[in-house]
Amino acid sequence: MDGLRCLQGTLALVSLLLLPLATTLPIFANAVPFNLTTIPFDEGYNPLFGDGNLVRSPDGKGVRLLLDRFTGSGFISSSLYNHGFFSAKIKLPSDYTAGICVAFYTSNADVFEKNHDELDIEFLGNTEGKPWRFQTNMYGNGSTNRGREERYRLWFDPTQDFHRYSILWTPNNIIFYVDEVPIREVIRKEAMGGDYPSKPMSLYATIWDASSWATNGGKAGVNYKYAPFVAEFKDLVLEGCPADPIQQLPVAEACAEKLSYLTSQDYSVISRVRRAAMRRFRQRYMYYSYCYDSLRYPVPQPECDILATEKARFKDTGRLKFGGSHKKQPKRRSRNRGATTDNQADV
Ligand SMILES: *[C@@H]1O[C@H](CO)[C@@H](O)[C@H](O)[C@H]1NC(C)=O
Ligand SMILES: *[C@@H]1O[C@H](CO)[C@@H](O)[C@H](O)[C@H]1NC(C)=O
Repeated sequence: MDGLRCLQGTLALVSLLLLPLATTLPIFANAVPFNLTTIPFDEGYNPLFGDGNLVRSPDGKGVRLLLDRFTGSGFISSSLYNHGFFSAKIKLPSDYTAGICVAFYTSNADVFEKNHDELDIEFLGNTEGKPWRFQTNMYGNGSTNRGREERYRLWFDPTQDFHRYSILWTPNNIIFYVDEVPIREVIRKEAMGGDYPSKPMSLYATIWDASSWATNGGKAGVNYKYAPFVAEFKDLVLEGCPADPIQQLPVAEACAEKLSYLTSQDYSVISRVRRAAMRRFRQRYMYYSYCYDSLRYPVPQPECDILATEKARFKDTGRLKFGGSHKKQPKRRSRNRGATTDNQADV
């Protein structure tokens, strides 16, 4: 019927008109901030490297990490934690930031060289006028040949204001947050075996020269004409059970109380509203997922929740069919002062 076609046409027109508006709406309206206890920098953390480039804020609540032509810098939590909520407000360097990686991650690679665990948020700098992007990733028990990268854009400019970035790790799930929006949840599956992080980890934050990897597959390196590059961290949160990683069993018992505290917190429950926000975020801002990269993983990893509507948007390289102007980049990231990734998504 013509009437139907006309109606469809009108609907298409309406949705076309609404689209630009819709994409500028906040991902998560009426967000109630998490009720968090922040700690002063010196109470929970120590410099890791590039000490001269780590500058404490006058109020002691934060630090600036600098990268200049001589060194990057970083800090590490004073303890390892058996599960936890790791969170900071972060403001990224602006202007020309190609080749720079700012990493906020948990790891125990210093203790377990061969079978470490790791949870990553890694911000990737860009050439002038192009936005920062970031990726999340995880390894368990040394599963470095099975990267689980997802890559995303942000719905705001991370160089203009502080935003909160968080990693929740419990025995049953892992949630990555940007502000109050859960952007990725990994639910533990039996079949993951040791790939699910299970040993106490430290929190790390670093800024480093990732010229060989971070931007356009290494084609745009760090330009030190714009140095120093400054990443700011404040309002730090470390909720978890400080644990000796070698003594695993008694730790589990000693940590039971802390774990029940963790899992009773607001951030441990993804409400219906937050789940809808997560779906919106992933529809609009995720441009690579290892779950849809069937060239790399012909059989998706066990925790992958393959959504037909989501899958339809991705090629078998795990990249977006439309709107993903990210060319194939063969280079791999070298080992460096950042997270200990070996086997990098080809994105
Ligand atoms: C926030 O957390 C503190 C400490 O855990 C608690 O005493 C307080 O009641 C909480 N506030 C709200 C609004 O839940
Ligand atoms: C973790 O790796 C170690 C050493 O490779 C191995 O002995 C152990 O069984 C693994 N644990 C799990 C849970 O897979």
